[in-house]
Amino acid sequence: MKTEMERQHIVVLSGAGVSAESGINTFRDSDGLWENHRVEDVATPGAWHKDPELVLRFYNERRQQIRGVEPNAAHKALASLEDHFKVTVITQNIDDLHERGGSSEVLHLHGEIFKARSTLDERLVYDLGRNDIYPGDLCDKGSQLRPHIVWFGEDVPCYPIAHEITQTADLIIVVGTSLQVQPASFLASAAPYHVARIVVDPKAEADVPAFYLREKAGAVMPSLVEYLCEKGISDLSGLEKL
Ligand code: APR
Repeated sequence: MKTEMERQHIVVLSGAGVSAESGINTFRDSDGLWENHRVEDVATPGAWHKDPELVLRFYNERRQQIRGVEPNAAHKALASLEDHFKVTVITQNIDDLHERGGSSEVLHLHGEIFKARSTLDERLVYDLGRNDIYPGDLCDKGSQLRPHIVWFGEDVPCYPIAHEITQTADLIIVVGTSLQVQPASFLASAAPYHVARIVVDPKAEADVPAFYLREKAGAVMPSLVEYLCEKGISDLSGLEKL
């Protein structure tokens, strides 16, 4: 039988900052360049149209990089929240570090680097396993495979589900995201008004009413999780002492 506390639902909105301490560069901390590339050259439908080989090579390199890093203390702490709460992680990250850190319910708003999909039929999605994608790699209907990533300018197919999930939240934790990219940015305020929000980001600006922990996720998330598991989510006043 579950206790009242176990049934409470924590929704985590995560972004690049949660993976920073694993060694993956965030986007907006590197002068607007993503691993030395302009976003328009590698992460838009126009880039794919103009130079698909460059786009495939870019994501093959990112995949290689992600295979070589490990989940950090923040990913692991978030996973251990599941010992006491129902937890859904809605991430803008395309890496698999939440899953490898132990989280069981992860929704990837912007796609997943370890999956490929058909350029003809977006329902055809494939696990890549240890493979990369090369020109000439085809889906079952014979069209070129592309990364299963939501590029700038494309719709975010998971957004309606993510919005629905935030409606059932009892607490929202925003970690490592500048919340500058729509529609992900809307999710922080999509939950009912009475639902408390905790923001973990060393550079967070106080633009929504929330408890702000201006620390690196790997440093503060373990004590935040310990606090929530011990005290529950109704009295967050002690967070100032973390
Ligand atoms: N711990 C917590 N937060 C951190 C850390 C850290 N160790 N390091 C950096 N941050 C914060 C930064 O201060 C910044 O506010 O993480 C945030 C990262 O913001 P962005 O780089 O804008 O990343 P994100 O919000 O995930 O970007 C959203 O934009 O790059 C595109 O599609 C891509 O999914 C991505 C989207």
